Order: sequence, then C-alpha cells, then structure tokens
Amino acid sequence: MLNLTYLSHSSFILDDGTHRLIIDPFITGNPTCPVSVDEIEAQYIVLTHAHGDHLGDGLELAKKHGALVIAVNELANYVASKGAKAHNMHIGGARTFPFGRLKFTIAHHGSSSPEGQYMGEPAGVVITMGGKTVYHTGDTGLFLDMQLIGQRDAIDCMLAPIGDNFTMGVDDAVKATEFVRPGLAIPMHYNTFPVIEADPHLFQSGVEALGLRARVLQFGETIAL
Ligand code: NI
Ligand code: MN
Repeated sequence: MLNLTYLSHSSFILDDGTHRLIIDPFITGNPTCPVSVDEIEAQYIVLTHAHGDHLGDGLELAKKHGALVIAVNELANYVASKGAKAHNMHIGGARTFPFGRLKFTIAHHGSSSPEGQYMGEPAGVVITMGGKTVYHTGDTGLFLDMQLIGQRDAIDCMLAPIGDNFTMGVDDAVKATEFVRPGLAIPMHYNTFPVIEADPHLFQSGVEALGLRARVLQFGETIAL
C-alpha cells in the first residue's frame, strides 16, 4: 500500500506505513501549504532541483530528522556541504533503497541554489514504493521522451505541473499524460503564486477526454494509491 499526501505546489509525501519520503518540501514561505514544517517528519527527502520552491525546507528537515537527501550529483554535493546526509545519483540511474526503487529522469528546466550557483541538471523522478510506481515530473516543459518513461515503467500515478510560465501549462500537461498513460494523473505546481494560476479541473477534464483518469487533490489531502 502507498499513501500519497499533496502538501501543495510540487510537494508530496509518500508513506508505505514503514517508510516516509517527502518530495520537494516547500513548506515555509509557501502560502498554499496547510501544514507547518514542525508537523513534517520524513526519513528521505527527494529533490528534483535546487530552486527555492523545491529545495524549500529540505536542508532543515534533513538535519532535524537525520533524513537522507536523494538528488542529482551537484545538488547532493551542495546539500552535503551544508551538513545534511546525501545520496548522489544522476539522470538515468536507478537504485533500490529500503523504501523501494528510485530513478531520476530528464526534465527541461533550470536548477540554481539560493546563492545563485548552478546545481547541475534538473530532474524528474520515478519511485516504486509500497507496490506502486509514481512519476513526479519535476519542473519541466513537455517532451516526447515522456513516452519512453511511460514505457520503461508502468506508472500508477503521474504528478504533472500545470501552472504554465515556468513549466508546462494545462494543455501541455494533458499531452504529457497522454504520452505517459498513467493509472492516475494529479496536477501540481499551480495557484501557489499569481504567475502560476491555473484551473486544475481543466486539466482533469482534458485527461478524462483521453479516456484516462485524473484527480484534483486538495492541498493537504491524502489518498491511497
Ligand atoms: Ni524550478
Ligand atoms: Mn518550481
């Protein structure tokens, strides 16, 4: 079993009852996140890239809970230089951790630290945990290789940005879902700030028009996958 909690923006918690993992923990300074950082506990922190709305509270959470940060090489080195435990990976590589298998995928975006240093390539991530496979695209534009990602792993749940401006908008995110053909698509990276305002129900109806399933989660909502 796998429970997925949507904290808002691109931040999700995956919990299989034994292991808890948080992806892109942007909590402090996130006006849509319904919980405070004190309420978050995780053993693993997965970062898709270094931008402040993804690295977020990652360093603080890692140090407070002794959590392992999993990221691409350059970002993992940065996190380690700040005193957190890190596991370095890179795009195309998979590894089996105690919680399950994790593989980084390409994403078309940028990745710079809060100090403005470049932090290597941004990424998406495919995580198999609790018998389910989740594809978090990270921040990205649409790309045709998403078809390959959907072919290499049967994706039970795809998390796709719809906010436009910095990432895919609704129409491209619907196309991305068509490429990946997940069991369920969930929109993310919208309505956090005015510049990424979008209607998640337009995404849902667009995906359903393809004969695929989509669901709009409330900020803070948990579902069993
Ligand atoms: Ni970004
Ligand atoms: Mn972002």
